[in-house]
Amino acid sequence: MPSSSSFTVIVFVAVAAFAFVSNNNVVNALTAQHVIDSPLLTEKIGTNRTIKVDINGKGDFTSVQAAIDSVPVGNSQWVIIHVRKGVYREKVHIPENKPYIFLRGNGKGRSHIMWNESATDNLESATLRVEASNFIAFGISFKNEAAIGMPFTSTNQSVAALVGADKVAFYHCGFYSAHNTLFDYKGRHYYDNCYIQGTIDFIFGRGQSIFHSCEIFVVGDKREEIHGSITAQNKQTQEEDSGFVFLKGKVYGIGNSYLGRARGAYSRVVFAKTYLSRAIVPQAWTNWSYVGPTKDLFHAEYDTHGPGAEQEGRAPWSKQLTEKEAAPFMSIDFISGKEWLPVYNQD
Ligand SMILES: *[C@@H]1O[C@H](CO)[C@@H](O)[C@H](O)[C@H]1NC(C)=O
Ligand SMILES: *[C@@H]1O[C@H](CO)[C@@H](O)[C@H](O)[C@H]1NC(C)=O
Ligand SMILES: *[C@@H]1O[C@H](CO)[C@@H](O)[C@H](O)[C@H]1NC(C)=O
Ligand SMILES: *[C@@H]1O[C@H](CO)[C@@H](O)[C@H](O)[C@H]1NC(C)=O
Repeated sequence: MPSSSSFTVIVFVAVAAFAFVSNNNVVNALTAQHVIDSPLLTEKIGTNRTIKVDINGKGDFTSVQAAIDSVPVGNSQWVIIHVRKGVYREKVHIPENKPYIFLRGNGKGRSHIMWNESATDNLESATLRVEASNFIAFGISFKNEAAIGMPFTSTNQSVAALVGADKVAFYHCGFYSAHNTLFDYKGRHYYDNCYIQGTIDFIFGRGQSIFHSCEIFVVGDKREEIHGSITAQNKQTQEEDSGFVFLKGKVYGIGNSYLGRARGAYSRVVFAKTYLSRAIVPQAWTNWSYVGPTKDLFHAEYDTHGPGAEQEGRAPWSKQLTEKEAAPFMSIDFISGKEWLPVYNQD
């Protein structure tokens, strides 16, 4: 090897090492102790009870729903439903009377639960519908592949997952649809290292949720001139605890989008320590279709970065939080996670 190219290699390695020590975030992102994986979750919930689902017939069931149906009503001990690699074409419902289910996949690129329903009623179209408390999912993709009409004229929606119970957590999961992808309906939820994609109002509802280190991917819809919105949060009263907090993630994609659209009069959404790409329009927040005063909307950012974090042109009611104002949203205490989450990140 000529000496000039080995010199180049050495310089490159030195620069890369410098980047690691000088940027704490880079170190954190690659530090194993911050990654929540399946053995850790399994250890924390303390069970071995596993029902295996295998599309090729080498497990206890070939359908995810059949495995859930086999869990007794009133279940009170954690049970693992392991979904092996494959595309499971079915709707999955976790009924209210079957708590403590841990749905574990082989990775969001390998275990897929997929359906294609479009309905005027959000509650109907969902591929995954969780109505039991104490539910965990790890390493699975939930998809709704319905062919959709013109987004702003069709009232139909295609929900990939409906999360309608308290104490629900998703780790390393994917949520895919075009329109209304994730219905964060109600209850306290934690999403860790998840991937969520969509065009319009694709994270919506009245849940009280933290999205930690999640990737939000905005898909364009070239048929429309109006911008879509990542969130449509629906907090309706001052007293209500609901709100979405996006912490240390990234927002990027193909299309242009708002961070949030007001759905309820007290709509509450915070993006903190998050990378925002050019996919975010300068105004960032909109009251489109919400008729009423904007004074009670809590549309806020704290320490965001990237080209989409530029503040010029922001909606006048939106807020840039101070460190003190941001504090209640920066920890797992926002969803009282220490009381119920088996594992969480607190970096
Ligand atoms: C899991 O199985 C192993 C081996 O069979 C056993 O030693 C261990 O106690 C079990 N753990 C639980 C939590 O049941
Ligand atoms: C829209 O939803 C209705 C019922 O909610 C359904 O009958 C209809 O097929 C859906 N349209 C499309 C294009 O999927
Ligand atoms: C769902 O898929 C089936 C089979 O491919 C198709 O016939 C149907 O039209 C699709 N429905 C929607 C709403 O896209
Ligand atoms: C949206 O907010 C602006 C003030 O920023 C107001 O002029 C407009 O009327 C609001 N739109 C609706 C539909 O309430």
